[in-house]
Amino acid sequence: MTVERTFVAIKPDGVQRGLVGEIISRFERKGFKLVALKQLIPSRAMAEKHYGVHRDRPFFNGLVDFITSGPVVLMVWEGDGVIAGSRKLIGATKPLDADPGTIRGDLAVNIGRNVIHGSDGLDTASFEIGLWFSSAELNDWLPSDQAWRVES
Ligand code: RTP
Ligand code: MG
Repeated sequence: MTVERTFVAIKPDGVQRGLVGEIISRFERKGFKLVALKQLIPSRAMAEKHYGVHRDRPFFNGLVDFITSGPVVLMVWEGDGVIAGSRKLIGATKPLDADPGTIRGDLAVNIGRNVIHGSDGLDTASFEIGLWFSSAELNDWLPSDQAWRVES
């Protein structure tokens, strides 16, 4: 496994429902490393870039309306296999199909209010991290207990 970084966003419903701590806690407990974190209300231009791949889908305008409707919490997490690993923690796009134990499986019901976003591959992770964060906002650091998470 190679060390990767991924972009994770708690969507407006997750922030409004007071799930920020619960969600961050799941990533921390898994053993991934938080390297960037901020809260903001996305502009329409940024939301449209972020979800540009879905531009022609019928749900696109509603999705952009939703994502720009209030604060989101944006994060970059680092670790071995963190891109696929985060998607496992997050669960299936449709919360009713998401396994119990996953964030969407435990905390959401509706596909349009599914609480959290995570990059779906290496290229998207790199694009999304660069879209939402400057390089100065990404912190290189070594957790003091790192030796207990990975084999040296
Ligand atoms: P995300 O990008 O937000 O992490 O979600 P995802 O990869 O699991 O799913 P994706 O196919 O990328 O869809 C992006 C978001 O669009 C909304 N959606 N609504 N109404 C619908 O049929 C529909 N389909 C997708 C969801 O909020 C989904 O997370
Ligand atoms: Mg997606």
